[in-house]
Amino acid sequence: MANTKRGEWGSKVGFILAASGSAIGLGNIWRFPYITGANGGGVFLIIYLLCVFLIGFPVMLVELSIGRHGKKNPVGAIKKITPNKTWSLVGYLGVITGIGILSYYLVVAGWTIGYFFKSLTYSLNSVKFSSFVANAPTQGIFFIIFLALTAFVVAGGISEGIEKMTKILMPILFLLMVVLIVRSMTLENSMGGLKFFLIPDFSKVSAKTFIYALGQAFFSLSLGMGAMITYGSYLSDEDNLVSSAFYVVFFDTLIAVMAGFIIFPAIGGAPSKSGPGLVFVVLKDIFIKMPLGELVAVLFFALLAIAALTSTVSLLEVPVSYLIDEKGFSRKKAVFLTSIITLFLGIPSLLSLGAFPPLTNVYKGKGFLDIMDFIFGNISLTVGSFLLCLFVIYVWKFKNAEIEVLKGFKNFKKYSYLWKYAISFLAPVAILIVMLYIIITGESLG
Ligand code: TRP
Repeated sequence: MANTKRGEWGSKVGFILAASGSAIGLGNIWRFPYITGANGGGVFLIIYLLCVFLIGFPVMLVELSIGRHGKKNPVGAIKKITPNKTWSLVGYLGVITGIGILSYYLVVAGWTIGYFFKSLTYSLNSVKFSSFVANAPTQGIFFIIFLALTAFVVAGGISEGIEKMTKILMPILFLLMVVLIVRSMTLENSMGGLKFFLIPDFSKVSAKTFIYALGQAFFSLSLGMGAMITYGSYLSDEDNLVSSAFYVVFFDTLIAVMAGFIIFPAIGGAPSKSGPGLVFVVLKDIFIKMPLGELVAVLFFALLAIAALTSTVSLLEVPVSYLIDEKGFSRKKAVFLTSIITLFLGIPSLLSLGAFPPLTNVYKGKGFLDIMDFIFGNISLTVGSFLLCLFVIYVWKFKNAEIEVLKGFKNFKKYSYLWKYAISFLAPVAILIVMLYIIITGESLG
């Protein structure tokens, strides 16, 4: 049933690298270490691992099986399973969420290349984060550069664009991380930082810890908006979805933990700032003081930029594949249109860090960018993952999903009851709790 018009991954390794590239992003490198440190260190790590493997992994398999079965974007794949129009709304939600996340993710991604250039030209010393992000023209330029890079890769298609790029960049990313870990761990105060990262602090564990862990797991694994449906749609029937999903989950988690081994030893203790500040303020100050610091800074910001690029590409691919499959667009035209929409949608986020003060505090102290993250990066992903689990259980039916997985993994029958339990009970209940919590408290999780 080869569909010559639609792309396919050239190899299973190609898929694993591309999907890991989607998962591994800014979420792993600056967000995960900080959240872990702030939520009890080693205890959080254990809870996070449970969320990733007991909930994230089964939901990843849900997305990959829907995608490969439908051989289409999230809207098309759902339509193939049921004619019921209401369910295709879950697909549309994913398409919109892709553009929504991309529009503010690109702002932060732009900072990474800004800081990369500054360190390359030995001028990192003079950068002040608050003035840097309040400068609309530079923000705009870096945003556009990053968007253009993303568009260029996606326009190249699946095997020639996304797969080729990730095959080059992911090994580089891994090498950079190893170099940076060695540099960090050989600094004087490295143990103080590691203690903060890893030693369990039970006084910081509460219901919230679980909720943060699950929110972080979905965001980090790129789940809940059909990115994995889309990437899964380019897999062949011979591919083993279970092992594919496992590799992606494993690499994503490995890189997150490795990032902790770079950041905390460098800080040498508890960080004084959270979020964007952690990397762009605290680490910058450390880099300029340490031996070989400028070189380390160049490598570190290159690493962040690479991680961000392999993620932005997956965010853009979702709406692009929708326009190609459902609206008959050519790939280039689809990339052009979605990029223009993303650019316009990105403007208020871009201006919300000081360039245009009314956008800095829009609601309850949150700026426009934070609100976009809350709506698209939290609520939408959680609702999306929840609905996708229900979709498999009640609409597609578990036995059909099982047949899809069996195609490339004949022994799956032995284990499928675990998957069934996870997606019909564990995941939906956990997600429901998180969803209610987010909506009631209005708190952003990631
Ligand atoms: N997982 C990426 C990160 O950790 C971000 C990302 C890329 C994403 N594609 C996604 C998040 C799809 C949710 C859905 O930075």
